[in-house]
Amino acid sequence: MELTKEVREKFSKETELPKEMLFGALHEALKKIDGNTKTFINTFPRPCSTNYVYPGILNGGEWDDWTSGFWTGMLWLAYEITGEERYRKTAFFQIKSYDERITNKVAVNHHDLGFLYTPSVVAGYKITGNERAKQAGLKAANHLLGRYKEKGEFIQAWGDLNDPTAYRLIIDCNLNVPLLFWASEVTGDSKYREIATKHINTAAKVVVREDSSTHHTFYFDPETGNPVKGVTAQGAGDDSAWARGQAWGVYGFPLAYSYLKDEKFVELFKRVTNYFLNHLPSDDICYWDLMFDENSGEERDTSAAAIAVCGMLEMIKYLPDSDPDKKIYENAVNSIMKSLITKYTTKNIEYSNGLLTQAVYSKPNGSGVDECCIWGDYFYMEALVRIMKPEWKKYW
Ligand code: GLY
Repeated sequence: MELTKEVREKFSKETELPKEMLFGALHEALKKIDGNTKTFINTFPRPCSTNYVYPGILNGGEWDDWTSGFWTGMLWLAYEITGEERYRKTAFFQIKSYDERITNKVAVNHHDLGFLYTPSVVAGYKITGNERAKQAGLKAANHLLGRYKEKGEFIQAWGDLNDPTAYRLIIDCNLNVPLLFWASEVTGDSKYREIATKHINTAAKVVVREDSSTHHTFYFDPETGNPVKGVTAQGAGDDSAWARGQAWGVYGFPLAYSYLKDEKFVELFKRVTNYFLNHLPSDDICYWDLMFDENSGEERDTSAAAIAVCGMLEMIKYLPDSDPDKKIYENAVNSIMKSLITKYTTKNIEYSNGLLTQAVYSKPNGSGVDECCIWGDYFYMEALVRIMKPEWKKYW
């Protein structure tokens, strides 16, 4: 999909992110993280807040199927941007809880091992070289391999592996496969990379619709492996574009490109990103489903905005200066970040322990609507680190 004329014009205008604004945003984010380091040591923030306050949960405890890694990831980011030992210490202390969780198979019968183990122990291993972190990451990668389905060539997202009605992938898995690419890099065993490649190639074929919007989940025939149909779980409808799903596309395809250098991922990135940008309201922060506009009365999803920013920043690294779209994505990043920083942080909500307001976990089932969501906070922090420390090496 091409950008509309209006959107191209809007993001052709140079948008600056002043240094003071970035430092101010980082300062505020670190203030909240500092507060949380006193509470979340043995416990982790719940996926979404209640009235902008995260209660604590255990790693793998109730509510935690895919999100504890984001808190540990925020600590690693805080450590890398400040060099402050106290962040490293807390993140390092948490490594054992991830190892215990995967060793004892606590709440890991799903594909979200990448979300759980990449920003936590893979990051921990990359930063400190710790062996237990590496082994925990590898155990998680091995467990994820067990969800691979030969017929259809994809990693099954949720549900019992023998249940034919659960025979589907979801676009979110774009962020789980980097765990497998990493596992091949550190072990020299190509089996992880082969499965990751097969899955992302299948996803590339089925999740992006003709108009460049995306399906959230996609079913296959368990007998033949043939693609069957796209269905939503968290979007407004089967034909709509759930904003966070679209954002997993915006970030996931550049990550695939970073490992495979296959040009089709650049094209896919541009298509899904252009669709995302074409559907932004005037302040550039998407509604929770891209079908909604300013008259809809629906909530925004700031977490999707933060994820999309990280995806654009990742792709910008690979686009040549001669690519006219590169400048567009740079301006879009700055515009979205400016809006998040000035209008959607908890800076003036003293009691809140989250970073970004107005995220949505799942509107269809009514959880975490207009709340802080821990992955939104993580990706906002990752975006700040990416912008302020361009030499930062990705965890994914
Ligand atoms: N991976 C689930 C979500 O994005 O809500």
